[in-house]
Amino acid sequence: MTPRVTATVDLAAIRHNLRVVRQTAPRSKVMAAVKADAYGHGAVAVARALEAEQVDGLAVACMEEALKLREAHLLHTPIALLEGVISIEEAALAVYERLQVVVHDHWQIALLEQLPDSAEVQVWFKLDSGMHRLGFPLSDVPRLVATLQRHPGWKLQGWLTHLSCADELDSPVTAQQIAVYRAALEGVPGPRSIANSAGLLAWPDARVDWVRPGLMLYGASPLPGKTGRELGLVPALTLESRLIAIREFAAGEPIGYGQTWRTPERMPIGVVAVGYADGVHRCLPSGTPLMVGGRRVPLVGRVSMDMVTVDLRPAPQAAVGDPVLLWGDGLPAEEVASYAGTLAYELFCGLTQRVRFRYRNG
Ligand SMILES: Cc1ncc(COP(=O)(O)O)c(C=O)c1O
Repeated sequence: MTPRVTATVDLAAIRHNLRVVRQTAPRSKVMAAVKADAYGHGAVAVARALEAEQVDGLAVACMEEALKLREAHLLHTPIALLEGVISIEEAALAVYERLQVVVHDHWQIALLEQLPDSAEVQVWFKLDSGMHRLGFPLSDVPRLVATLQRHPGWKLQGWLTHLSCADELDSPVTAQQIAVYRAALEGVPGPRSIANSAGLLAWPDARVDWVRPGLMLYGASPLPGKTGRELGLVPALTLESRLIAIREFAAGEPIGYGQTWRTPERMPIGVVAVGYADGVHRCLPSGTPLMVGGRRVPLVGRVSMDMVTVDLRPAPQAAVGDPVLLWGDGLPAEEVASYAGTLAYELFCGLTQRVRFRYRNG
């Protein structure tokens, strides 16, 4: 059976991008974000590739994601639960599975305190240095140090904070966040961790004991106006479908639902077997580029559930059955995402179960 829509993930690209992380932050350990199914790339395959390269740690959002990795025998690399645990059962499971727990609130401390004294809990404390999403206020640091002293079984992994504006290179926010975080931890022992991809690429002061890249490992740029390639990264995922029809229309004919686009002249329209049920955003407007035979062709008319239509004038040699690139090398996901008013993060995470995944260079 020929798959309609294929996502080809090049694991060599992910290994390359890890090397870029290491070159950029050579003194930092790397906790690779593989949450959200490795940003839609497939958490097990990606985590295996990263483990083979001796990545220092993996980060997932929640217990379910961590267990998926453990079930796939990813047993050697430390795994951190970025949102921590939400019940006493999860707390016990985290200890049993040797998962690192990010603790962001006092109610989570209360949960962990219900575990037996002998339980070895690996704890990251998350501090709120200005993002105001999760984290203890910086003024809580002395209280947290006292909590650790009360629980000799708890093993401190480090002090983590998250940057809210690391992709805004002219903003003073990141420097302020780093400064207040540093000041709050003055003289406090334990590893530090600040930077996501944008933080580690753009803010040298954020390259501390641990960095936590996600997006850049998948080869996309977290920085506006730059592609992954321009940052030395290699896009890991290529999304492709096929032309299933080519039809010639006279000038003035409407195309697709709502008749939102009309042919300006006699011209060929290609029908591509991919739609919003595969993860191609319905809001992508006419003019969004796709690629056929190495040439960019604009999307025309509305994205429907299973199909999109394209203007084939720039690719007159195109034939039914030809592959069509939705994004990948030569057509950056960042660029396609910008047409949908979103980021590559959302494009990656939006791929659905109907897409067939293939892995190269595992
Ligand atoms: C706490 C934390 N660290 C690191 C990351 C990785 O971020 P990025 O994909 O921007 O590198 C995320 C992602 O949202 C996160 O929530």
